[in-house]
Amino acid sequence: MKINFPTAIITALFVFLLLSTIAILYTTAQHISSVETLAVQSLDSTALAISSAVENTLRSKGNGADREIREIFSDRIIAYALIADKDGKILFHTNPGLIGTSLSGILIGKRIETGKVSGRRILLQTGVPAYEFNFALHRQDGSAELLRLVLNTTPADQIVSKARRMWLTVGVILIFLWAAGGLFLWIASRYIRLQRELSQRTQMALIGQMTAVLAHEIRNAIGSIKGYTQWVDEKTGADDPTKKGLAMVLSGTERIESLVNELLLFSREETYIIENIALSPVITSVLSFLPPWEGKINVSIETEVSVKADKEKLQRVLLNGIQNAIQAMGHNGVLLISARNDKRWGKVVIKDIGHGIQKSAQHLLFTPFYTTKTSGTGLGLSYSKKVVEGMGGRIDLYNSEDGSGAVLVICLPKA
Ligand SMILES: Nc1ncnc2c1ncn2[C@@H]1O[C@H](COP(=O)(O)OP(=O)(O)OP(=O)(O)O)[C@@H](O)[C@H]1O
Ligand SMILES: [Mg+2]
Repeated sequence: MKINFPTAIITALFVFLLLSTIAILYTTAQHISSVETLAVQSLDSTALAISSAVENTLRSKGNGADREIREIFSDRIIAYALIADKDGKILFHTNPGLIGTSLSGILIGKRIETGKVSGRRILLQTGVPAYEFNFALHRQDGSAELLRLVLNTTPADQIVSKARRMWLTVGVILIFLWAAGGLFLWIASRYIRLQRELSQRTQMALIGQMTAVLAHEIRNAIGSIKGYTQWVDEKTGADDPTKKGLAMVLSGTERIESLVNELLLFSREETYIIENIALSPVITSVLSFLPPWEGKINVSIETEVSVKADKEKLQRVLLNGIQNAIQAMGHNGVLLISARNDKRWGKVVIKDIGHGIQKSAQHLLFTPFYTTKTSGTGLGLSYSKKVVEGMGGRIDLYNSEDGSGAVLVICLPKA
């Protein structure tokens, strides 16, 4: 049975999942971006602290502060450091071999003049990432020089990459969240289906009991009426005007009798004679019971589709399904009957191009006495459901996806 899960619930669940996803993604992005900012800020403040220490040492000790400055620069976070004059000449370098050489690059004088502090990420010649910090050093005599500190960013980068790994955790959480949403829908729709089936079965059992009692009583009474009418009919001469009335009574009782028989068939406790049945001959025999029809019947059967079923009951189910399809199309149309195997079932599909099923009637189709026909009992599909399920199978009727007519699917356990 197809369950139309309330659209409002699906929409609410979808909106909830979407909002949660956006909230989680936004919070994570914010968190990672603040970790990145903090990493840069921590590099900036380390560089500033070292620069100030160097400036203070230079101010207090003047040119003889070489040893103290080297001590300050011995911190492991410093990749290298240098002091250059406004012409770019290196006055001090943590690699003593480079003292006296010139800094490539312009604007050194300008940087010193403006005293602007600047920091940026760079790549060392070894390919290792680092953070370059330029600072204007002011001496006591008013002269100024450029202090360039190049800091190792590995510790800061490790913190940032740890934070970025959060994306992985977030991804897994989101997959779980959406999977849980899907699972919830699946469990809920299964629960609703079982509830509906249970209430239908209870309803059927109740109707069955009532019908059995009623039908039994009616059959007895009708039996007497029919017997007495036949007796009077035999005694009545062919030219007697009462003969016509008696014929009408007889045809009426026959109609009631057939209806009662159907009711009894529907309400009785079924016993099944299950055997392996090849679908092809059963379908052919059912088609031979049909009254002449002007439409076209196409039968497509995979070879070797056999099911475990009670032959007589299966024939009734197929006959009702085919008759319903033909009645839905009227005098003309195309009826497609196919049978195929899938993993678990042997399936018969009866497809028509008739008027289809109204959405509001979908849930009533298998309810006893639901009919849209003047001469129908509305027991065909409910009987079919009862016996198909009794044989361990499933039956479903819905509008065709191509928008024309209806499709009846009967699934039975494979032989
Ligand atoms: N192929 C179909 N296309 C459109 N509507 C259908 C189709 N099959 C069944 N129905 C609808 O389902 C209702 C119930 O079908 P069901 O076979 O139970 O009873 P019925 O055909 O009306 O009467 P009965 O089978 O007792 O003669 C039909 O009256 C019809 O409205
Ligand atoms: Mg029918």
